[in-house]
Amino acid sequence: MLHILAEFFSAAARRYNQLTMNTATPRVPAIVLHKPLQALNTLGIAASATAYLPVSSYADLQAVRADQSLSTLPRLVLGGGSNLVLSSNFDGLVLHLVNQGKIVVGEDDNYTIVRAQAGENWHAFVQWTLNQNLPGLENLSLIPGSVGAAPIQNIGAYGSELKDFFHSLTYFDFATGEVCVLDRDACRFGYRDSIFKHELRNRAVILEVSFSFPRSWQPNLSYSELANEISARGLITPSAFEISEAVIAIRHRKLPDPAVIGNVGSFFKNPFVAHEIHGALKEKYPQLVSYPQADGSIKLAAGWLIDQCGWKGRSLGAAGVHEKQALVLINRGGASGADILKLAHAIHEDVRLRFGVTLEIEPVVI
Ligand code: EPU
Repeated sequence: MLHILAEFFSAAARRYNQLTMNTATPRVPAIVLHKPLQALNTLGIAASATAYLPVSSYADLQAVRADQSLSTLPRLVLGGGSNLVLSSNFDGLVLHLVNQGKIVVGEDDNYTIVRAQAGENWHAFVQWTLNQNLPGLENLSLIPGSVGAAPIQNIGAYGSELKDFFHSLTYFDFATGEVCVLDRDACRFGYRDSIFKHELRNRAVILEVSFSFPRSWQPNLSYSELANEISARGLITPSAFEISEAVIAIRHRKLPDPAVIGNVGSFFKNPFVAHEIHGALKEKYPQLVSYPQADGSIKLAAGWLIDQCGWKGRSLGAAGVHEKQALVLINRGGASGADILKLAHAIHEDVRLRFGVTLEIEPVVI
């Protein structure tokens, strides 16, 4: 593993150093003005951007940084647009990562390392890894979005998180103009969290992500709903493909397809509360859904809290709460970002008044 790592880091540095030399005089990028963004965000909000650039290489970013009229604009880095709420038109430059490609870069007796470009579709990438006989990402099947956006919130589902198979990533730093490589520890992954939501927010553009697949794969059936689905299918020793199919079936049953109903998946994070607060809530609400954590805190199911407040299936104007999962807000047609946020605020207040628990919005609000 160490051998692959060292080789990998120096290869990444070499590639980008060559690029730097090739682009000593950066070309002027093909900027689109007044770009509609409705088709580029899965909530389907009709907003636009003052300027837009499809980014297919590091050279595009270098050119933006070198151009004074572009480098001073507010920036929005866009992947699949599946974790984004556009509260108004964006008065700045949208950098839309569209770079494609995925490749096995190295292997030894224990691990295979795969590198994917940021603009790759996440689910298509997961299916590709399974077809390469590289199990590991199956529990993360069908999560909307792009490979480059996945580390930002450390995407997770059905007992698995991106960080479990993450190796390293390469990003362009707008502050310094440098291309940097971060390993797993440096990314400081947490629950729907990473360094890209903190120190590197508004500064880093993730260009490519590498994953490490151990040869000793074991199915992860720790999430009871997935384990139940597998046994309902009569599977005793499921393959990674079979797990992927089961995850896809559960998601189809519970979560709206963004191609049909605008949504960004879970709208709130599941909140953490102290042991004593959990105890008091459990006494009052014996059905409370909660998950004890290793650090002694307790994670509550935000969907359950919102459901108990009677929001499931309800609407406020064109913004609604999904009929099958109260954690998912939906665009019933023509909702603005402000409509969605108004509904989110009403839910936030109801949960706070009833349970004394503060919900935090999961997607990025612009
Ligand atoms: N619940 C209700 N009513 C609801 C929704 C949920 O009572 O309307 C209860 C369920 O019965 C269950 C518990 O709440 O006992 C948890 O629900 P679920 O299994 O659907 O998972 P979740 O905690 O609501 C999280 C992730 C999802 C991920 C699922 C499966 C977050 C914020 N959300 O949802 O991720 O798919 O677990 O692992 O952690 C996303 O991030 O966009 C996302 C969809």
